[in-house]
Amino acid sequence: MSATPARPPLSDARLLHDLEEVVARELDRHLRVFKEWMPHEYVPWSRGRDFAGPLGGEAWSVEQSPLTEVGRVSLVVNLLTEDNLPSYHHEIATLFGRDGAWGTWVHQWTAEEARHSIVLRDYLVASRAVDPAELERARMTHMSSGFVSDNRHSPLHTVAYVAFQELATRISHRNTGRESGDPVCDRMLAQVANDENLHMVFYRNLLKAALELAPDQAMEAVKEVVTGFRMPGHGMPGFERAAARIALGGVYNLRVHHDDVLQPVLRHLRIMDLGGLGPDGLRAQQELGAHLAELAAQAGRFDERRAAILARRAARADG
Ligand SMILES: [Fe+2]
Ligand SMILES: [Fe+2]
Repeated sequence: MSATPARPPLSDARLLHDLEEVVARELDRHLRVFKEWMPHEYVPWSRGRDFAGPLGGEAWSVEQSPLTEVGRVSLVVNLLTEDNLPSYHHEIATLFGRDGAWGTWVHQWTAEEARHSIVLRDYLVASRAVDPAELERARMTHMSSGFVSDNRHSPLHTVAYVAFQELATRISHRNTGRESGDPVCDRMLAQVANDENLHMVFYRNLLKAALELAPDQAMEAVKEVVTGFRMPGHGMPGFERAAARIALGGVYNLRVHHDDVLQPVLRHLRIMDLGGLGPDGLRAQQELGAHLAELAAQAGRFDERRAAILARRAARADG
């Protein structure tokens, strides 16, 4: 495709101003389709009992819960990620502002996200799925270091990032439920994943409007976000090891990231077919295409490695 002449870039203030009516429209749509749900209804309280400590109850031990190992590891990563909400709120409130439709959305989103850490922690503690003292110390460490967004320099990059990130979170919760070994956990995470899906739709529709408003800038933002993507939990204690287990367990890995997170958003927005781009937008689109091809090849190599490891494990278990 040949480039159309370069356009002068829009300032962040102008972009935020021009996108506000889209935010207002999407906020209305979100509030119409969002169904209230009660976190306490998803927690198996009947499995709960006092812990060792001031109440003199039973100490925690791992066999008290039916959860699989990958389910436990993944739930902790997902919960610690949700726990850092104060930092996320700070980042988006600073960038998007707290006035008008942007502000209403920032607060609504924050309130909805808080429900996720509530239900996840209540589940983990009531069902004795993980060591509650270790969990609490990990929360302190993780929250004390806070979270600084890779995309705090730009509202467009932030919108692009959260469109992918909300879908990544949805898929991660859903797959965690599937691999958890506990139908109660699966049902709870399906409900959380439902919220994440609505968040993804909000940001994806906003990104669509940004691509129409400032195609070259938005294309560059998408390219940079996709090529530099990392999960918000990357700074938490033990993340690398947990991520490796989660990848091997099929909850979240390169294959999932490419097939179930990047591609659905990119295809929905027709990113690779978008015409009418100036020289910068066109270059970004081509670089994005090259990156996706490389990622698909890496995902193929990952699949082979994973299959080999799982086969070795199965052979060991048989022998
Ligand atoms: Fe969430
Ligand atoms: Fe979300």
